[in-house]
Amino acid sequence: MERTLAIIKPDSVKKNVVGKIIDRIESEGFRIVEMRLVHLTADAAMEFYAVHRQRPFFEDLVAFISSGDSVVLLLERENAIGYWREVMGSTDPGRAVPGTIRRIFGFSIERNAVHGSDSRDTAATEIAFFFK
Ligand code: CMP
Repeated sequence: MERTLAIIKPDSVKKNVVGKIIDRIESEGFRIVEMRLVHLTADAAMEFYAVHRQRPFFEDLVAFISSGDSVVLLLERENAIGYWREVMGSTDPGRAVPGTIRRIFGFSIERNAVHGSDSRDTAATEIAFFFK
C-alpha cells in the first residue's frame, strides 16, 4: 500500500464538483485516510509550491491556490502516487486523456481541478505539510 496527497483545488470547489471528484476517487479504489477543507494563505501556498518558486507562473499559482477553499486528501491504494496521476491526467487539461479528472473538470493549466504528489519523496513532504 502506498499513500499520496491529493488536492481538490479552488476552481473545483467553486464549481461544486467536490462530490463528483470524491466519488471518482472512491470508485478508483482509493481509501480516504484523512480529508480536510482548507483555505491556504499565500504564505502557506508559497511554502507548499516552493519547488516552483523560480518559475514564471509561481505568483499566479500562489494567488490561485490561495484564492478560495481547497479539499486536501490523504489517499491510500496500491501504487497510489502513479495511479492518482493517471486518474488526474496531464497537467494541461487540453492535453489530458478523455475521461481523466483534469480533462473533465479542468479549465486551464492553472485551473486544472486537482493536484497530486509526483514522487515518493514529494508525497512524504506534502502529506506532512497538511497531516501532521
Ligand atoms: P500541480 O500539479 O498542482 O503542480 C504545480 C502547478 O503549477 C500545476 O499543477 C499547474 O496548475 C501549475 N502550472 C504548471 N505549469 C504551468 C504553466 N506553464 N503556467 C501556469 N501554471 C502552471
